[in-house]
Amino acid sequence: MRGYIVPVLASVALSRASTLPSDHSSSKRAVISWDDAYSKATTALAKLSIGDKVGIVSGTGWQAGNCVGNTKAVGSIGYPSLCLQDGPLGIRYVMGATAFSAGIHAASTWDVDLIRERGSFLGQEAKQLGIHVQLGPVAGPLGKIPTGGRNWEGFGPDPYLTGIAMQETIEGMQEAGVQACAKHYIGNEQELNRETMGSNVPDRVMHELYLWPFADAVKANVASVMCSYNKINGTYACENGGIINKLLKEELGFRGYMMSDWNAQHTTTGSANAGMDMTMPGSDFNKKNVLWGAALQSAVQSGQVQQSRVDDMVKRVLAAWYLVGQDKGYPTATFNSWKIGSQNVGGNHKTNVRSMARDGIVLLKNTANALPLSKPKSIAVIGSDAIVAPKGANACADRGCNDGTLAMGWGSGTAEFPYLVAPLDAIKTQAQKDGTSVTTSTNDNAQQGASAAQNADYAIVCVNSDSGEGYITVESNAGDRKNLNLWHNGDALVQAVAQVNKKTIVVVHSVGPVIMESWIDNPNVVAVVWAGLPGQESGNGLVDILYGSTSPSGKLPYTIAKTQQDYGTNIASGDDSTWDLFIDYRRFDQQKIEPRFEFGFGLSYTNFTYSDIAITGKPTSGPASGTRGVGGPADLWETVATVTAKITNSGGVAGAEVPQLYVGYPSSAQTPPQQLRGFNKLKLDAGASGTATFPLRRRDLSVWQNGQWVVPSGDFTVSVGASSRDIRLTGKITV
Ligand SMILES: *[C@@H]1O[C@H](CO)[C@@H](O)[C@H](O)[C@H]1NC(C)=O
Ligand SMILES: *[C@@H]1O[C@H](CO)[C@@H](O)[C@H](O)[C@H]1NC(C)=O
Repeated sequence: MRGYIVPVLASVALSRASTLPSDHSSSKRAVISWDDAYSKATTALAKLSIGDKVGIVSGTGWQAGNCVGNTKAVGSIGYPSLCLQDGPLGIRYVMGATAFSAGIHAASTWDVDLIRERGSFLGQEAKQLGIHVQLGPVAGPLGKIPTGGRNWEGFGPDPYLTGIAMQETIEGMQEAGVQACAKHYIGNEQELNRETMGSNVPDRVMHELYLWPFADAVKANVASVMCSYNKINGTYACENGGIINKLLKEELGFRGYMMSDWNAQHTTTGSANAGMDMTMPGSDFNKKNVLWGAALQSAVQSGQVQQSRVDDMVKRVLAAWYLVGQDKGYPTATFNSWKIGSQNVGGNHKTNVRSMARDGIVLLKNTANALPLSKPKSIAVIGSDAIVAPKGANACADRGCNDGTLAMGWGSGTAEFPYLVAPLDAIKTQAQKDGTSVTTSTNDNAQQGASAAQNADYAIVCVNSDSGEGYITVESNAGDRKNLNLWHNGDALVQAVAQVNKKTIVVVHSVGPVIMESWIDNPNVVAVVWAGLPGQESGNGLVDILYGSTSPSGKLPYTIAKTQQDYGTNIASGDDSTWDLFIDYRRFDQQKIEPRFEFGFGLSYTNFTYSDIAITGKPTSGPASGTRGVGGPADLWETVATVTAKITNSGGVAGAEVPQLYVGYPSSAQTPPQQLRGFNKLKLDAGASGTATFPLRRRDLSVWQNGQWVVPSGDFTVSVGASSRDIRLTGKITV
């Protein structure tokens, strides 16, 4: 197996600033400029009847077409029936598509090259299948509430990390030729009552947290954005001119189109005049209640919707299609979502899943270098999470059960597994090479687990915690998690095994943080491997880390607390008016709450030393005032200072480190104590050094004040560390 692992170790230190545009000059960009795309769209528009126009912006209705969303073709301009398909980690309803790592696992790699490649592979598979619009990536939910059911589809509760991941994913997808769709816009942080509840988000919180990653998406030229089910300040997102026309189109200069989430539209004219540009799927799920189509045409005829508004919708939709080059020889969809069949996705993309499964793993505990394993005589592998579910990895529709190893959550953001390598599968392969004997107990019975473990040199206990979309309830979790405990009595299983085995290794597959207080300090639990939601290559990536062919390099994209209450956010039963700047580590820092494992934390098999911090640049205070373009004022995105630091691998083996930059603002700005504003991933041989480079954009030093982005004057602290609480170097920028 080692044979096909892509070597991660370069003899010369690689360093790349995560916020700089990737050097993909060798790959041919499919993306033309918005201006060019709009001029083609304007020419095409002139040839269209009102019926054509309405057909372009209205879905054909639920299940009226092969894709989850379809629109009408217009022969006169060579425009196809648009195929819109889920989802963010792979192509839904197709057997043979790659089941990539989930968004949250991609984030835990902190590796922009892998994230971009994942986006590119997602886009290549979509194009091969004739999908025009792939419904991802996800920046909403952001992850305000740790039990939120769909948090795992996105990149975690830090807007900076999520923003970078959005940008890289979107650029990767769109360069491959598919239109990306940034979703769900906005304030959709829970599954409970998502279709009726309201999110009353103050303007500043909106800008500094929830809108932030959508701004990255817009700046990355995302073709489309999806408005969410919930209300904002009493008005449904897809009917809300404040968030569509004002925030996205005027303030951020978004030039693509806003589509509704499926059946999230409520009125014919309200949605049109608020700035919505496409309705999906075009009817409700009973194939009734058609709000656009003929009704939109009547609204134009009666003057309730201006003709110019419909022309604007059409231009936006057509421009996005031209933008990514879909007017030139794009394939036609041949699959049928409503009858899952096998398709050839035209490439082997599992290498990315293997790398992410491995590099997204976060090593949380490793007493006395218990890991990596080296040809142990015997091991026991325990837990239902160690094997593929007996009924098969795809036995439950949209992965709506939790019977075997967990490699993705449930809901519309899932894909069929083409195969799934479970922990036990990969461990057995390794054990055979090493001559290790393996005993197993592949259920969650604590007594049986303990008896399998008692005579083994090592016991590997696999446990999990799942969540998903609210239309499916799994083991009484209605989308959102009931709590942050391990499922299936995982705590009892770990404790029973640790009672009889002094070298117990816990492997956790999870959609988000779990509370592990009942066993984390147990001295017999010598290692904890946070294995996330790795996708189809799960077991292989795990073995890479357990046996040390690669040193672990993942870092937590969220905080793991000691109690659920410490997060201070909860699923709302009605409207939610509890929004502030203090989510995840921002709150733990402000309230001085000790987490179990802090945001950005992760151990390695080697050590890194930090030295030689240097700061260049002289930012000026005051508002961003540059020319408004895509993404807002141009100067908001300009680099105004650069921080560098030297990182040395001072341990015994090769490894990768994620140095992180946190910025503390002048106290007058009343921000959280520190906020992530940069990261690198440096792959370093033993003894090698590299330079971490953190470009700070004007945006990264700005706060939202009275309707604009302003750099406050005063002292900014810059902290470079191995986690949010392991700061190794500090400096100061005076503005
Ligand atoms: C929602 O209301 C809050 C509080 O008045 C306000 O700060 C915010 O800007 C409003 N949001 C929108 C999109 O209008
Ligand atoms: C890292 O450093 C610590 C203390 O400096 C040492 O105990 C440990 O063995 C080192 N680990 C490696 C893998 O070099």
